Amino acid sequence: MTKKEDVFRKQVKKVHRLLALLFVLFVIAGGGIISYMVNPNILDFMSKSETVAIAPVEVDEDRIENGIHVRTGLIDAEGLMIVVNNCTNCHSSKLVTQNRMNAERWNATIKWMQETQNLWDLGRNQEVIVNYLVTNYPPKAKGRRAVLTDIDWYELED
Ligand code: HEC
Repeated sequence: MTKKEDVFRKQVKKVHRLLALLFVLFVIAGGGIISYMVNPNILDFMSKSETVAIAPVEVDEDRIENGIHVRTGLIDAEGLMIVVNNCTNCHSSKLVTQNRMNAERWNATIKWMQETQNLWDLGRNQEVIVNYLVTNYPPKAKGRRAVLTDIDWYELED
């Protein structure tokens, strides 16, 4: 072997090693890219994002405070939610509570709303609603006071 051949052979070996190294790097990089494409979450373990649990803020739509349904101002009593769900959709509950009627007039008002204002059929809830209204928002006392009874008259002296 001449000295020249020896040098040449060493150079070929170097190039060969370099190519092999490049090939290995290429395979590693390629494999990484492919697995990232298949599963993009694969790098998630490197990100330090913390999962912050956000507690839902609970707003109780139907909160009762001091015996009053806060959202509508209606008295908390039997039938409350049926009244809330059927009678506060179209107009304020004030319109309901400022009208103090007896059962007969309530039924007539409901019938009127059904005939002219698209109020739906209340079915068996109607009785519950009317009961609630008559019990909790009874008709106001009569405008004229009742006649006095049991009066203890006294004699006028001369
Ligand atoms: C589909 C819509 C709707 C629903 C539900 C509804 N109403 Fe009405 N109501 C109306 C309309 C419209 C009026 C007329 C409002 C106005 O005159 O400004 C009215 C008027 C009234 C009045 C006043 C009547 C008058 O003579 O002036 C009362 C009291 C009343 N509603 C009570 C109730 C009650 C109790 C319920 C539950 C059973 C109810 N409403 C459910 C639509 C509705």
